[in-house]
Amino acid sequence: QKGGWDSYMDKEIHEDPKAVADTLLGRFGPEGELNLDELRIDPEDIRQVDKIIIVACGTASYAGMVAKYAIEHWVRIPVEVELAHEFRYRDPILTSRTLVVAISQSGETMDTLMALRHAREQGSRVLAICNTQGSTIPRESDAVLYTHAGPEIAVASTKAFVAQIVAAYLLGLYLAQVKGTLFRDEIHQTVDSLRAMPSKIEWVLDTQADTVERTASSLVDAKSFLFLGRHVGYPVAMEGALKLKEIAYTFTEGFAAGELKHGPIALVEPGEPIVVIVPSARGRGTLHKKVVSAIEEVKARGAFVIAVAEQGDPDAEEYADVVFWRPACPTLLSPLVDVVPLQLFALDMAKSKDLDVDKPRNLAKSVTVE
Ligand code: M6R
Repeated sequence: QKGGWDSYMDKEIHEDPKAVADTLLGRFGPEGELNLDELRIDPEDIRQVDKIIIVACGTASYAGMVAKYAIEHWVRIPVEVELAHEFRYRDPILTSRTLVVAISQSGETMDTLMALRHAREQGSRVLAICNTQGSTIPRESDAVLYTHAGPEIAVASTKAFVAQIVAAYLLGLYLAQVKGTLFRDEIHQTVDSLRAMPSKIEWVLDTQADTVERTASSLVDAKSFLFLGRHVGYPVAMEGALKLKEIAYTFTEGFAAGELKHGPIALVEPGEPIVVIVPSARGRGTLHKKVVSAIEEVKARGAFVIAVAEQGDPDAEEYADVVFWRPACPTLLSPLVDVVPLQLFALDMAKSKDLDVDKPRNLAKSVTVE
């Protein structure tokens, strides 16, 4: 059943490319336009949507945070991302023009289910992004967009995360198509880039696994790890921190790189391992410069820096102690590749500690209580 892999988690990480490819399948019309008839929402109702609230927990909420950057950029409507268990207790503002998107791999997470019930009671439409056909969350939603990651058995969510991002991106591009906020060519270009992602993920799995494994075994005794990122790298940092926490039982904290000087830098001491998601160096944009200066700050205090950076980034080469390379891709799509070495890293750390990677202590695959 594990198809020759040592663990389900191992197998499922190696299914990341397929999860992305399969989630894209069958969702385009003859002219390459997005075809999401499966949603069964009247395009006129889509045009009316003036706000999106994404509700989810854990890894699914980080996929939602990634999607926020893309959807706001493409559709020009506000997108809020809220942990499902916090959502209904704050009396959120919901109208018939609010689209609530519930993201869940299992479709059975009670917190997310209660959030969607609350949203529907308030008259909002709920769309589920889910990996499990016929589960409760899609059954109770107005519409569903399935991710096609295949069954995910390991407690740590991996391939479902990349599939959730793809599904949320398809939704964003569809909204942009219906509302006319992007030109056809822009949509086509992004779709082409999405279609190129499975082979880029494959490249990471094929070429970076050895560096990741060596790095993990050299850091197996580290007491804590910090993860930093900016823009879409921020949720990726949070996700990398969560993976390591739940599988390798290591204390980790993920935060926005810009927050460093507002507190977390006090934690940095010589030898502290810090994983930094570095945005594309092409054009050496502002984002890249800012993240590189965060690396310089922590290096100056003796941190051991592991960068996730674009191939050929000279600054990553110069300042980081180790680099996990990503092939060039548009910034908004980079989480699909950047998370892969972090998933492998958590797996390798857990293996070095001889832990059960598929069934970490105290955790259940789906949390069916509030
Ligand atoms: O099934 P769901 O996507 O609703 O689950 C949400 C979280 O419980 C889940 O992502 C959890 O954080 C994972 N263990 C993360 O690896």
